[in-house]
Amino acid sequence: MLGGYRLPSLTTVVCGLFVAYILQSVWTLGQLFVHPSCPAPTDCYQPLIATNPPLQLLAFTSLSRSPSHPRELELVHRLNSFPYDTPYEELLEVQLPLRVRNNGSYFLHLFLTPPHIEPEDWSDLVRGEHSVYAFSHLTEYQVPAASTFTLLGEDNTQAQKEKENKEQQQNKQHHTAQKAVTHFQSQVTFNILTDPVGLPRQDLPYDLGHALRLDSRGRYLPILHVDTLSARTRDLVEVTPDLTHTNLTLKYFPISTGS
Ligand SMILES: *[C@@H]1O[C@H](CO)[C@@H](O)[C@H](O)[C@H]1NC(C)=O
Ligand SMILES: *[C@@H]1O[C@H](CO)[C@@H](O)[C@H](O)[C@H]1NC(C)=O
Repeated sequence: MLGGYRLPSLTTVVCGLFVAYILQSVWTLGQLFVHPSCPAPTDCYQPLIATNPPLQLLAFTSLSRSPSHPRELELVHRLNSFPYDTPYEELLEVQLPLRVRNNGSYFLHLFLTPPHIEPEDWSDLVRGEHSVYAFSHLTEYQVPAASTFTLLGEDNTQAQKEKENKEQQQNKQHHTAQKAVTHFQSQVTFNILTDPVGLPRQDLPYDLGHALRLDSRGRYLPILHVDTLSARTRDLVEVTPDLTHTNLTLKYFPISTGS
């Protein structure tokens, strides 16, 4: 056995980076929960959500990360009066276009709008004063579980050393088998900050400030957040060329600043 100091293995480094990423994400999310101080109401942005506005939830799938035309969107869910004060869950069946089935990417686009907005009405949807938007990846590239097994099962004993050339050829074959393919994220969780808290105009955490949009009366629009931290590997479904439909669970939780 080797004693003394060893360089950290690649696994350690990757795990380290992953932990750092998680911590950063938790920090970003955490800032939503920290109650920012709001000394006087005039120093603060007041929330539109304090007036209990009726909100419509619209969910679209798209091949495009940033669609520029309604034709690029496929409406998969419309909830005319979205009960955003309570947790909510909906099982949707979505179609997978050929491009997704051929190792492509797929995206979910969420909008919160006033109830009268029609899903086809692009300008109201995108530029409406009270329109709120968030998006999520619906696919991820992963090596299919079956070929990971092949890798682990591969035997590399001394006896096989003579067959090295042969093995190298096999490795090349494994290499093609190992290719990452599209996996569908079958569960997406999103949140809205439902606490009617005023947020200080000064000293707003950058991430929060960035997420704020104001209406013409200076009230901030509901903060819609897709919870990427809750996306789990076991919810990934391998997309094969003949998987034309699949299920998507849309989960919603209201969040508060904890005050
Ligand atoms: C699928 O696409 C990803 C990303 O573009 C690529 O890395 C991978 O090799 C592709 N897999 C196949 C089987 O073509
Ligand atoms: C989708 O969900 C329905 C209802 O739970 C189930 O019957 C169906 O088999 C599911 N489809 C897929 C592709 O998992």
